[in-house]
Amino acid sequence: MKLRNRKKAGAVADHTGEGDIVLSAHDITVSFADKVILDKLSLDIRRGEILGFVGASGAGKSVLLRTILGLTRKQSGTIKLFGLDIEKASEVERLRVDMRLGVLFQHGALFSALTVLENVQVPMREYLDLPKKLMDELAMLKVELVGLPPDAAHKFPSELSGGMIKRAALARALALDPDIVFLDEPTSGLDPISAAEFDELVVKLRDTMDLTVYMVTHDLDTLFTACDRVAVLGNKKVLVEGTIDDMLKSEEPWVKSYFRGKRARQLDLAARA
Ligand SMILES: Nc1ncnc2c1ncn2[C@@H]1O[C@H](COP(=O)(O)OP(=O)(O)O)[C@@H](O)[C@H]1O
Ligand SMILES: [Mg+2]
Repeated sequence: MKLRNRKKAGAVADHTGEGDIVLSAHDITVSFADKVILDKLSLDIRRGEILGFVGASGAGKSVLLRTILGLTRKQSGTIKLFGLDIEKASEVERLRVDMRLGVLFQHGALFSALTVLENVQVPMREYLDLPKKLMDELAMLKVELVGLPPDAAHKFPSELSGGMIKRAALARALALDPDIVFLDEPTSGLDPISAAEFDELVVKLRDTMDLTVYMVTHDLDTLFTACDRVAVLGNKKVLVEGTIDDMLKSEEPWVKSYFRGKRARQLDLAARA
């Protein structure tokens, strides 16, 4: 297994060669009826980074995610995953790309009628043809990987705490050992301690699994502690992107009030202490 730390990921992020770009969205326009949500938006994600994607509620963060995943139609633009233009890909190529993506949707809780183990096996059943015993073993490994106790595997979502549900959903996103995971507000609704633990887990998994993480979040703690780079959605595009330090220096009004509000200042002081 390849180990990676934040510093190393930062070094990787300095390369701009195509090979280091896992996801490239270029000139993306999405509208519903005549309401334009995204207007020629462009964003790249580099291998091994944890990118925090922020923006006002309703700005279009989830729409962009669904567009990248091919679930929402765009009016224009190009999306390349692992260098492959997904619109020009053959069915087999598309399938291969899909298997390298893991997703935790904003409202995509677990299937309530399935146990945790069965939930984790959903992508395995969809994409792989494995004997049940092997699938049980693989799913159990994922359950352990996200820090759930083994007995949680046989529980139903209604028997789990909020933090455990998010971990189980993360285990499902990791079911196929993806290269990139998309997490849409994974810590919303969690208490601060569970949220911080979840962030730590994401960093640990990135470090140990050579993952790239695209994380939509509102959570300032997450942005300060877990993200290597931040992209801000506003005016239907990526307004600003860069490190937390870049965000703190930005004079863009929304970015300024978000990152330099009282709460953000406290976090910044704590992080630098
Ligand atoms: N399928 C859809 N049809 C029409 N409007 C939509 C659809 N999906 C999202 N929207 C609208 O797009 C805007 C952005 O939504 P969304 O991406 O969910 O925001 P957020 O940044 O909070 O994730 C909202 O105004 C939402 O109502
Ligand atoms: Mg959303």
